[in-house]
Amino acid sequence: MKRVPIKEALTGVATGTEITVAGWVRTVRTSKGGFSFITLNDGSSLACIQVVADEQLPNYRSEVVHLSAGCSVAVTGQLVPSQGRGQTVELRASEVQVIGRADPERYPIQPKRHSFEFLRKQAHLRPRTNTFGAVARVRNTICAAIHEFFQSRGFLYVHTPIITPSDCEGAGQLFRVTTLEPGRGDEQEDFFGRRTNLTVSGQLELEAYACALGNVYSFGPTFRAENSNTPRHLAEFWMVEPEMAFCDLQGDAALAEEFLKSIFRAVLERCAEDMAFFNQRIDSTVIETLTGIVSSEFVHLSYTEAIEILQRAQRRWEYPPTWGAELQTEHERFLTEQSFKRPVIVTDFPASIKPFYMRLNDSPPPQGPTVAAMDVLVPKVGEIIGGSQREERLEVLTERMRGAGIDPEAYWWYLDLRRYGTVPHAGFGLGLERTVQFATGMANIRDVIPFPRTPRSAEF
Ligand code: 4AD
Ligand code: MG
Repeated sequence: MKRVPIKEALTGVATGTEITVAGWVRTVRTSKGGFSFITLNDGSSLACIQVVADEQLPNYRSEVVHLSAGCSVAVTGQLVPSQGRGQTVELRASEVQVIGRADPERYPIQPKRHSFEFLRKQAHLRPRTNTFGAVARVRNTICAAIHEFFQSRGFLYVHTPIITPSDCEGAGQLFRVTTLEPGRGDEQEDFFGRRTNLTVSGQLELEAYACALGNVYSFGPTFRAENSNTPRHLAEFWMVEPEMAFCDLQGDAALAEEFLKSIFRAVLERCAEDMAFFNQRIDSTVIETLTGIVSSEFVHLSYTEAIEILQRAQRRWEYPPTWGAELQTEHERFLTEQSFKRPVIVTDFPASIKPFYMRLNDSPPPQGPTVAAMDVLVPKVGEIIGGSQREERLEVLTERMRGAGIDPEAYWWYLDLRRYGTVPHAGFGLGLERTVQFATGMANIRDVIPFPRTPRSAEF
């Protein structure tokens, strides 16, 4: 069987010829006149093809009329112009092969609107729905656009380890990796002879490659045991991290802006059908927002200026903005949605709230020492990118580690990068799922990754 993707069949170029398509039944309507209309989807696009099957088929009474949502079939037939609304072609079946049945009494995905909460419990079947098929296709386009962006600029794709002894963000949100039985043996007896965990970021290892090869990036899964049950946090998520030697914070911010624009341009150009669906069914402003971002300049703002703007705002905050405290989601969203109505790059955060590796600024504001950090904020999602220029001065870095309670000895190799041929360098991390969320308008991050991992949830 040489199957034609339904997306290709629907272009109509093969009208008048015989083709075979295969997929899963969405709906079946059987008329008294001896016809069945089957809508079939194979995931190649949002659209279904209409199959017209008639009683001449040898298995019409025995099989075709009993088809229901979820059955898998392969259909061979003539592609003909369609009289029906909203479709240019349909398939006149000469053979309908029923491959797998789906008991209509038990198949969970019925042709009606299911809540996303319900579908999360059917994560293995939800890709058969319009929304989750569209999310998967947009996610794929974003991943392809990410690689194209870096490859076309000469960045090397580097694979950083998933199991690591380091804690890049120093936040202690680590998943331990161990083969020891609970309560048995100590770290020396463990598999690696030391304490290890799943990576929270590939940055530290990536810096080693940037400090040899120039411009590099990694793209892989990262893990955080943060117990935050929010629509924006996962325990396992994918991060893209570029790292550039001979680069400062300004260069880093410029790359971030160009990068985001190229991703969203690709989504608008290549996923028009899926985006029209999201705009109609999920968020009526999503296309307008993406289009605006592609053509607008991002706002640049220091953390100190951001705090002043927030303090001036006539608003009741859950967390009143004060210099030295983290920006909360309510603050991030106010800046990007209310104050500026476009993406905002906040830079130069207080050193006390940022990890040890960020470069200490030479002339901080009177409030206190700051680091060359940046967060890129976008409407609805808030922080989508976090990055910084890295501390390249050995003494300053060692001092910052001690201040953060980190033993510099444990990071001897990281310090070597400053001992031997140190250079200014900078990079950032983009959360893939927040990017997919932003591009699709999906409200919950659990609905933009196939099998979400969140506190108390790892069923699939
Ligand atoms: O701001 P973060 O923590 O930065 C880093 O990890 C740096 N080491 C990256 C670098 O400079 N190379 O995380 C980067 C991005 C965030 O802006 C957010 O988009 C995403 O990763 N992110 C999460 N996404 C989903 N669930 C979580 N729990 C996330 N934590 C961070
Ligand atoms: Mg961050």
